[in-house]
Amino acid sequence: MQEWNLKSWRKKVALQQPIYNDIKLLKEVEEELSKFPPLVFAGEARALKKHLAKVSRGEAFLLQGGDCAESFADFNTIKIRDLFKVILQMAVVLTYAGASPVVKVGRLAGQFAKPRSNDTETIDGVTLPSYRGDIINGMAFEAKAREADPKRILQAYHQCAATLNLIRAFAQGGLANLNKVQKWNLDFAHGASTDRYLQMTDKINQALAFMEACGINTTNTPTLRETEFYTSHEALLLNYEESLTRQDHLTGQWYDCSAHMLWIGERTRNLEGAHLEFLRGVDNPLGVKIGPNATKEDILGICEILNPNNEAGRLNFIIRMGATTIKEKLPKLLESIKNEGREILWSIDPMHGNTIKAGSGYKTRNFDSILEEVKSFFEIHRSIGTYAGGVHLEMTGEDVTECVGGMQAITEENLGCNYNTQCDPRLNANQAIELSFLIADILKNRQI
Ligand code: PEP
Ligand code: CO
Repeated sequence: MQEWNLKSWRKKVALQQPIYNDIKLLKEVEEELSKFPPLVFAGEARALKKHLAKVSRGEAFLLQGGDCAESFADFNTIKIRDLFKVILQMAVVLTYAGASPVVKVGRLAGQFAKPRSNDTETIDGVTLPSYRGDIINGMAFEAKAREADPKRILQAYHQCAATLNLIRAFAQGGLANLNKVQKWNLDFAHGASTDRYLQMTDKINQALAFMEACGINTTNTPTLRETEFYTSHEALLLNYEESLTRQDHLTGQWYDCSAHMLWIGERTRNLEGAHLEFLRGVDNPLGVKIGPNATKEDILGICEILNPNNEAGRLNFIIRMGATTIKEKLPKLLESIKNEGREILWSIDPMHGNTIKAGSGYKTRNFDSILEEVKSFFEIHRSIGTYAGGVHLEMTGEDVTECVGGMQAITEENLGCNYNTQCDPRLNANQAIELSFLIADILKNRQI
């Protein structure tokens, strides 16, 4: 293999990149960004990798979730706080009801660039470049908005910095305190899952009172008042990723300091491509999405390129095959590589293989299909003797109506009530809590 450097990806074919007309401006932006402070630090990425190694040993569970795409227009404190609260709620459900430690990773503070099936979009005979995420161009169907604008990269960076600043404060400065477990519940949350959540938090509060009486409290036990929360996004726009990649002084290793964990999407994971080339040189934990057509050769090829030293916690394959297809494809795939001795963390994205178009024209996903794919994922791993390590969800703390079903029983007819996503349909807070209780039941009953 050729030697890696920060720019070696530029000699390969990079799929799903925008065409920038103003190359001079793009270069200026890249130079500016490469001088900005890193968003995350090497030591944090190393800590996450250690946690993920535990997951792959069957000692913890990975919960990864957030928006399909973050947005400039919809950037506000409440939205970040509520997503953070729902992830904390889900984690406490999985920890308490599922009896498993949880590693929390947000799809946030960088989840801006989107791969698209078509390079262009045509409406009423007018053809314009597709919307590729706010870091690249605007969503409005107008020629000016759809032009790729390098300055958006800087705006995205600043939004990420502000988001991370808030998240770090929430994680360490009080909101994550276990004594507040009831306050994580959102005002609009209702229904059986909320009741179950509140019953569970009563028991947690009783346990905390007992521990306090024994002298164990939030003052003397930091893990009761703080949490570790990591960030991730799809490393799609390689100019951005390159500009935020830095060499760690302590170890001499390179880290992509745009997020703790980066993943490669289903459309850009080709073995010869620029995305694998870039990420093989950074030492962060990595994910790769795996769709229904992936082969044994793809999986082993990716392992060879991204994890040649077979390090535990380095590589997470995120399966996204769809509720029906997973049953046919995943068993054979797992069977074919289970004796290859590869360190792999397996997780499930039950969103991207289950997208449908509702009669009303909205893109949606059915809660039942999402649950079915998750259940199959666990069942297939159990039957093959491998470990189902985590879930990867598109979700929000908002009361949106984007996915149908669940106990709240959102129907295709009422998708329009609060359909707010920048790209794909997300689970709302009620649906996310409901799903986490169902996953907790699976975790509790499985024998590792
Ligand atoms: C995504 O996670 O938003 C995405 C585009 O996924 P995939 O690469 O699996 O299609
Ligand atoms: Co998506």
